[in-house]
Amino acid sequence: MVDVILGLQWGDEGKGKIVDYFASDYDVIARFQGGPNAGHTLYVEGKKIVLHQIPSGIFHEHKVNLIGNGVVLDAITFKKECEDVAAFGVDYKKNLYVSERTHLILPTHRAIDKASELSKGKEKIGSTLKGIGPAYMDKTGRNGLRVGNLLDKSFTTEYIKLRLKHQKLLDSFNFQEDISTWEEEFFEALDFLRDFKIVNGEYFINKKISEGKKILAEGAQGSMLDVDFGTFPYVTSSSTISAGVCTGLGVAPQKIKEVFGVSKAYCTRVGSGPFPTELLDETGELLRTTGNEFGSTTGRPRRCGWIDLVALQFACMINGVTQIIMTKADILDGLKELKVCNGYLVNGEEKSFVPFQMNRVAIEPMYKNFSGWYTDISGAGEFEHLPDEMKTYIRYLDAFLGVPVKFISNGPGRDQLVRV
Ligand code: GDP
Ligand code: IMO
Ligand code: MG
Repeated sequence: MVDVILGLQWGDEGKGKIVDYFASDYDVIARFQGGPNAGHTLYVEGKKIVLHQIPSGIFHEHKVNLIGNGVVLDAITFKKECEDVAAFGVDYKKNLYVSERTHLILPTHRAIDKASELSKGKEKIGSTLKGIGPAYMDKTGRNGLRVGNLLDKSFTTEYIKLRLKHQKLLDSFNFQEDISTWEEEFFEALDFLRDFKIVNGEYFINKKISEGKKILAEGAQGSMLDVDFGTFPYVTSSSTISAGVCTGLGVAPQKIKEVFGVSKAYCTRVGSGPFPTELLDETGELLRTTGNEFGSTTGRPRRCGWIDLVALQFACMINGVTQIIMTKADILDGLKELKVCNGYLVNGEEKSFVPFQMNRVAIEPMYKNFSGWYTDISGAGEFEHLPDEMKTYIRYLDAFLGVPVKFISNGPGRDQLVRV
């Protein structure tokens, strides 16, 4: 049996904290897509750590963590992250497994990412520049190198062949930066990676399932950044939705049970692309400062706005969300009035669906106003203790989305989670 935790918006919904909280109920925690573009923040014994490649279950002793085939792995980030995790006293080698089908991010992928973004000028995606797009391009283009290839004698030859191909592309971008230091680090990191438990991920996970073990699949990014269903081309390059669990781990759809969709009580986006409910005023600024909305991978300020139920309803539909976990509700504590987007005016016409290409049409969000609770909720441990205004807000979301909000997160701490 597999449950999934994934983001319903444009990423950074607080998935890391939620996975860390739920991990104790599961036997295996597995990442199924994305790469070090993810930044999942956890607080362990009061200390902050941001995970990019390692599943957020790593701090739970006796839990198995798997990096699935759908992930793209940057060995340099991975090595560094293992060292960071070790500083917390975690014996990461014991419980961390990597699928042999996981594709490697090469230094030239990072260079191509940068060169490609530079060439786009104002139309850039706002990529995290971690080489994600180019690594997935080599996967679907059938050129990429996989973790399992590290054990081949021909690895270096294959690497050089691919690097030469990449160099041609870099030359066409007139990219001049020297990447030789990245390459040195890369080869060191590959030696480190070779020493891990490299497994056939699909047999590994299906054996666990047949033994009755509970699997938690941890999503990265968010549904609106999905390569098919997101705000293309301003998206990432993987399937961030629940269907991605099947291809990213090798599990059949009927094995998936609960799909926990994580959404903030408002909305953020980092990088370029459409964002109908974005607030460019002081409320937006207040959300950014109170919510500390700065990218956990790149430090960039996140764009902030009201919750968008049209987009959320779409995300619930494509993921088959069974329960919603609403995070960062405490960030709305200081607002006397709240707005919820419950429709789009597209070229003056009322619509309740996400259009083909959001950035090609003029979308004016329609809002319903709510009274804010205007009180500190960060200490609340039970739903009964939450203010009535908040209950009204939650009930409206439940009814609109047709999926219940089952948990409310009211602070970054592991235990700041209220069951509805
Ligand atoms: P992820 O990428 O979805 O894991 O989210 P990030 O870690 O990038 O960003 C979420 C940020 O919000 C992190 O700094 C978390 O510590 C923080 N956070 C998560 N849940 C809550 C919450 O309920 N309240 C507050 N105040 N912060 C939260
Ligand atoms: P987590 O897992 C928020 C955004 C980037 C950019 C677009 C493409 O922490 O929620 P990419 O690096 O994939 O080429 O960038 O996607 N993006 C994220 N935004 N959270 C993330 O991950 C993201 N990963 C990528 O900002 O707009
Ligand atoms: Mg993040």
